[in-house]
Amino acid sequence: MTFLNDLYPENSSVTQLFSIFMSIMLGFVLNAPDVRAAGVDAAPDSLKQAFVDDFLVGAAVSRSQIMGEDPAAMDLVKQQFNTLTAENVMKWEKIHPLEDQYDWEAADALVAFSQANDMYLAGHVLVWHQQVPDWVFKDADGNPASRELLLSRMKSHIETVVGRYQGKVQSWEVVNEALNEDGSLRQTPWLDQIGADYIAKAFEFAHRADPGAKLYYNDFNLYKPEKRAGAALLVRQLQEMAIDIHGIGMQGHYGLDNPQMSDFEDSIKAFAGLGVEVYITELDMSVLPFPDQADWGADITVNLELNKQYNPYADGLPPEVAKQQADRYAELFRIMLAHRDVIGRVTFWGVNDGHSWKNGWPMSGRTDYPLLLDRDNRPKPVFYEVVGLAGNR
Ligand code: XIL
Repeated sequence: MTFLNDLYPENSSVTQLFSIFMSIMLGFVLNAPDVRAAGVDAAPDSLKQAFVDDFLVGAAVSRSQIMGEDPAAMDLVKQQFNTLTAENVMKWEKIHPLEDQYDWEAADALVAFSQANDMYLAGHVLVWHQQVPDWVFKDADGNPASRELLLSRMKSHIETVVGRYQGKVQSWEVVNEALNEDGSLRQTPWLDQIGADYIAKAFEFAHRADPGAKLYYNDFNLYKPEKRAGAALLVRQLQEMAIDIHGIGMQGHYGLDNPQMSDFEDSIKAFAGLGVEVYITELDMSVLPFPDQADWGADITVNLELNKQYNPYADGLPPEVAKQQADRYAELFRIMLAHRDVIGRVTFWGVNDGHSWKNGWPMSGRTDYPLLLDRDNRPKPVFYEVVGLAGNR
């Protein structure tokens, strides 16, 4: 500061002020990269970065993506997400098609990809009544398998699959969709042939196969008060039996009318109150009309007839509908951020709109826009809406 002292030899306060100003500026220049890294600057350009202090953000990937047939999608996956789920390749019919035959090819490739890219891998799914081959439920004569036979098959399936990926698949959706909409236990071959304790048994087998894995119950429409109560009861019963259950997966196949945000938040609070984590495991938000509210949810056996009136946006999404979706997505993320202490991860069911199963369910042949990235892997306006919430907690 000598030159200032020379100019204003008798005015030391000016010199002091200038010196303070210069040190602030210098500090600002030196610290600028840290400030940017902390997100004070522009909004983050990836979902994983946006919510790095809140929860993991992921996507479900298909067999063809895992097998390298869509490298652009996998590049996007690396850029955007820090957790993955197999959309289909770990389901029983894919990974264990015949009693004495496992098909590890795609699942192994997914595990290798996750390891190479330092991503958290969520196992989907061990015990479900869908996408499981018929032989599982039958004995050698084609009659319903006995409780003992079915339990021993379940045990060996879980031991084999969970055991193979011990320490590499960090969590497992042990039981999927065991509840009816009114919260009662769903009538499935698992329930019919084993009894209600099939759920506890599945968790026991999974825990023994990988004591370090997080284990949870997964279902759709868990925002509905009756189904929420059913899931809460299930968790409490398992806890009373000292069974290890660490979380509840709310699938999250949503739309423009469902759920009501207060119901969604009430379920998160109710599950958190049980002392378990909450995972949003299969997030998407359809913009298309849904014919019959009784079918609303994600029952994959629903297969309705295609009708032009149910496919209104085949040539593009009107901006006002996109805006409605963006507002709802933002509200969902605001709620999830408010409960970030109990939410472990949020996984989208697909990478981009073109990949989404919602183009084919509840009827095939529609054009839906349920995710944050468009058919060309570009972020949609809703993407910016969502990442713009980063830091808003
Ligand atoms: C869906 C897949 O996305 C489709 O590719 C497949 O044909 C059927 O299953 N609930 C679940 C998921 O738990 O496994 C389902 O995934 C969607 C509903």
